[in-house]
Amino acid sequence: MTDSHVPRFALFSLLALGCASPALSGADTDARSRRDFGLTEARDLDASPDVVSIALRATPSALEIVPGKTTPLATYAGTLPGPLIVAKRGDRLDVHFENGLAEPTTIHFHGIRLPNAMDGVPDMTQSAVQPGATFDYSFTLPDAGLYWYHPHYDTLAELGSGLYGAILVEDPEEPSDLGDESVLVLSDVSVDAQGALLPPSSDPAAVIAGSDGNVVLVNGRVHPTLDVQSGRRQRLRIVNAARARYFSLGLAGRSFLQIGSDGGRLERPVSVENPVLAPAERVDLLLDPLGDAGTSLELVALPIARGLSLPLSAQVPLVTLRVVPAESAPSAPLPTLSRTITPIDTSGAEQVTIALTVDEGAASVSMGINGVPGSAAQPIHALVGSTQVLVVQNMTPYAHPFHLHGFFFQPLDASGAPQAPLEQKDTINVPPVTEIKLGVHYDDRPGMWMFHCHILDHAEAGMMGMLHVMN
Ligand code: C2O
Ligand code: CU
Ligand code: CU
Repeated sequence: MTDSHVPRFALFSLLALGCASPALSGADTDARSRRDFGLTEARDLDASPDVVSIALRATPSALEIVPGKTTPLATYAGTLPGPLIVAKRGDRLDVHFENGLAEPTTIHFHGIRLPNAMDGVPDMTQSAVQPGATFDYSFTLPDAGLYWYHPHYDTLAELGSGLYGAILVEDPEEPSDLGDESVLVLSDVSVDAQGALLPPSSDPAAVIAGSDGNVVLVNGRVHPTLDVQSGRRQRLRIVNAARARYFSLGLAGRSFLQIGSDGGRLERPVSVENPVLAPAERVDLLLDPLGDAGTSLELVALPIARGLSLPLSAQVPLVTLRVVPAESAPSAPLPTLSRTITPIDTSGAEQVTIALTVDEGAASVSMGINGVPGSAAQPIHALVGSTQVLVVQNMTPYAHPFHLHGFFFQPLDASGAPQAPLEQKDTINVPPVTEIKLGVHYDDRPGMWMFHCHILDHAEAGMMGMLHVMN
């Protein structure tokens, strides 16, 4: 998709019809200066400072994506993306969920180290929530960071129809003036010229390529503008909620300071020119003040190759960053940011091979783990309190984002030591015909956990497995 093909229509008016967000007005007085930038903040129904209680309904919604046309979607609470859930580390999050759809569904809270019964996997951790039925999710939020929620039932179709939202878990001990903060939910949607939602294709080439939607969205809008104050550092907290699309971010050759990834902050920041987010990954980026009022810069998704057999993606404009006159004092110099992350000790740890495989026929394609599709998989076993090294081997000529439910892992280097700077990951890109090693420690949360490729077409084609963590 080139620039000229991107509809410039924005969903402002439609989003304004979403639920009220009282937390954004008077209550939000802390120094973090987070802007909503089109996201609706979920209302906390509980007065206690350490409990965030949300009522969330999945509902059919009609929104305007193609100018002048209506697209039938399914959303959380009528907004695209669903409401931004904001809490702080250590809070309990209660989500009173109601399924207003005609199909069963569940909610999976991607990346959160929660009890297995709250993981939202149908027929494994709970029964699917039937149309009209409710389910109460409740768990504590042990780690600061940006997470997200989405269905785990018919995920490719349900997420592709608009069911996804972000969860921001703030760190009360973090320095307050890291930058003016915005959460960016990147996604896309597949629509025809009349605005009808296009269903995923089962054609082998389409399954392999994955469902890249033809309209790219940032917080539910096409190429929105974010006003940034001159002299103020920016903090962009970004989640890739797309089904299959990779985002390689570029900003006119400037570099970003990456301070965090999936499970919160990095051990120390790193400078990066083109951060890449595979599906489901998150980054936490700082940008030095962008210049004088009246100037603007384009945040774009650069062309990216996911494997020799797949075409290079096109460049897509994401956000215009428009510099406006300062209303607040210029940002103070950035404090030294460090985080203590204990390096995972994998000495003597069991090595478990997880080969990502494909069996490609002319009329259909089957994907699997170690040659076995998810529907026929036997679980991998691990003991509570143990550490394993997952040896993830990509046997295919295209990339896969590997995701493990419930636990963070640390990517290991060739010598088997955790890569510096240390980080807590739950999703990681595995380049074509490459092997990566991940150290994972199973804390005290037994149960059956999933792992899978987060290109949802691939997961649906069988690239998923189970991990049984036992006492
Ligand atoms: Cu985003 Cu199985 O998860
Ligand atoms: Cu997950
Ligand atoms: Cu894949």
